[in-house]
Amino acid sequence: MNNCCIRGAITAEENTRENILENTKILLEDIIKENNIEIKDISSILFTMTKDLDEVYPAVAAREIGITEAALMCACELYIKNSLKMCIRVMVSVNTPLSQRDMKHSYLKGAEKLRPDIVRKNKKINIAIDGPAGSGKSTIAKNVAKTLGILYADTGAMYRTVGIYCLKNVIDTNDETAGSEKMEDIDIEVRFEGGKQLIYLDKEDVTEKIRTQEVAAAASNVAKIGKVREKLVEMQKKTAQTQSIIMDGRDIGTHVLPNADVKIYMEADVDERAKRRCCELKEKGIEFEYEKIREEIIQRDNADKNRKISPLRKADDAILIDTSNMSIEEVTKKVTDIIYKAEGRR
Ligand code: DC
Repeated sequence: MNNCCIRGAITAEENTRENILENTKILLEDIIKENNIEIKDISSILFTMTKDLDEVYPAVAAREIGITEAALMCACELYIKNSLKMCIRVMVSVNTPLSQRDMKHSYLKGAEKLRPDIVRKNKKINIAIDGPAGSGKSTIAKNVAKTLGILYADTGAMYRTVGIYCLKNVIDTNDETAGSEKMEDIDIEVRFEGGKQLIYLDKEDVTEKIRTQEVAAAASNVAKIGKVREKLVEMQKKTAQTQSIIMDGRDIGTHVLPNADVKIYMEADVDERAKRRCCELKEKGIEFEYEKIREEIIQRDNADKNRKISPLRKADDAILIDTSNMSIEEVTKKVTDIIYKAEGRR
């Protein structure tokens, strides 16, 4: 028997007891599964967390999944300028007949960035989800990202950001020439912090501001402009190059990630999608008229499906899921099962 060390890291979404424990469990369970070890083989674990996480000791998660014999120790990480935020790191010592060289280290969510060499070799995965507005893409993609410990990228948010820029600067979103010219000046930045996508326009965080019907309509218009698509698609491709990601949009399987490991195309009938949208607005306390929402969805479908460049369509190798009569849990399970199957995990 040898005593070997396995390294791992993951980022949390928020500094809460629940989230820190959940992410620590995802990390430990991944290390256990990937290295095919049993809990009794773990002799000790050293945990460190960045200073911005202080709600609970991560060692509690180890106890909760039955690691009760191993020696556990938690420490606060050195504070290094610009280092990854909300990061939980572990060093797990195991007794194993294998050698150190055989150990599989685990870097999940935002922490994939720390060791792209390892991630790529072992399990980098790109997942594309496309479909019309309200088909459930973003809810499902967020759930799946959490389960798999990978990033979720919402490309619609990028088109919405160009849309809000045009509204603010009174640029006619139907005018292709004006839109193309302005594209050079727009400063858009996408950041992933604690697993959440934040989007900045001219250094201002617009993540929440872009979630209106007015901005959605402007986004659908600017999405027709070639220069806009060129710039955004390039940013999207770059993001997916170095880390595992589940990306949703309209052209992910067809243009952004044509070689994605898994492609899903989601749809749902228009009444169901309108109902879902109305529920969201109701929850936010925003007034709405069902017929108007339904009409807006139909208009957006038409614009997205009939534009000249990269229209919304199912990639030939995408799996179609009609979510009309399915619950969020059912769709999430279906998609995770498809991914596990593609990975050869189950
Ligand atoms: O998914 P969403 O509602 O946030 O998208 C807003 C608009 O952006 C959508 O109507 C069409 C456009 N879009 C696109 O053309 N390509 C993408 N990959 C994502 C969104």
